[in-house]
Amino acid sequence: MKNYKYSEVTPEKVYNKRRKFIKSVGLGLGSLTLSSMSLLNNAHSLENNSELTSYKDITTYNNYYEFGTGKGDPYKNSQEFKIKPWNISIEGEVESPITLSAEEILSLYPSEERIYRLRCVEGWSMVIPWMGFSLSKLLNKVSIKTEAKFVEFESVYDPEQMKGQRYPVLNWPYREGLRIDEAMHPLTTIVTGLYGKALPNQNGAPLRIFVPWKYGFKSAKVIVKIKLVKKMPTSSWMKASPREYGFYSNVNPNVSHPRWSQSSERVVGGSLLSPRVETQMFNGYGDEVANLYSGMDLKKYF
Ligand code: MTE
Repeated sequence: MKNYKYSEVTPEKVYNKRRKFIKSVGLGLGSLTLSSMSLLNNAHSLENNSELTSYKDITTYNNYYEFGTGKGDPYKNSQEFKIKPWNISIEGEVESPITLSAEEILSLYPSEERIYRLRCVEGWSMVIPWMGFSLSKLLNKVSIKTEAKFVEFESVYDPEQMKGQRYPVLNWPYREGLRIDEAMHPLTTIVTGLYGKALPNQNGAPLRIFVPWKYGFKSAKVIVKIKLVKKMPTSSWMKASPREYGFYSNVNPNVSHPRWSQSSERVVGGSLLSPRVETQMFNGYGDEVANLYSGMDLKKYF
């Protein structure tokens, strides 16, 4: 895969200008669907305290333990990773299981720009112009059985190519999961690219999940399997440390990690002197998703 140089990508300024343009045009854009309007509104609410993170920071400061545990390791070690051919199976409690190639998925579902905040459980954040579409579109294709209550995502297992998998840092392959209503929520995204370009290997190519209101580790990269299941799946991080990483892992400034507070975050790309910013409930997406958790004790179901 081509390794883009920073100078080759659309400068962030162009993106920022376009966002301002979208804002000034507002809802006058006749062809927008309801869900894309709410996505644009989300982009508006970002204007208060955030600018887009640079392409360079998004693609060189990563968590991707299959390629090493250092933030620069994924960029350094993933460039030769082969993402063709690539198949993804959708199976489990569905009427019609299916296997699709990454190319088929890209051509079946047009990608749109989705500017979302990413808040990592470690206490840093970015604002990323992803390309992608709602996971629900793909799930609707297989007719989910009523028995299905959760969705499990499985990343690829390939220790030949992924040196990190030769060590038991995590229980490989990387696994994550969502409740079915979370998975069907329009904000839950299959990511196909970023900054209008193909998804770089270090960000999870060919396809990854992105769940904007949850800590970043819920968003599995490099997925090969989507399985509809009856019982709550145990994710790799829950297995590694259940006390620290819960199934829900909704961004929540009021629930501390056992080893640090989650009330504020460092914005990646700022200067050393930039102040930390306050972390927002559900990472700022409460208007859209808080109803999924009404009546739940979010300290207990962290
Ligand atoms: N997916 C896989 N397969 N392996 C990983 O190590 N790291 C997670 C998540 N998805 C991870 C993963 C974590 S901790 C975060 S914060 C995000 O990916 C980082 O995504 P980014 O590198 O694109 O910013």
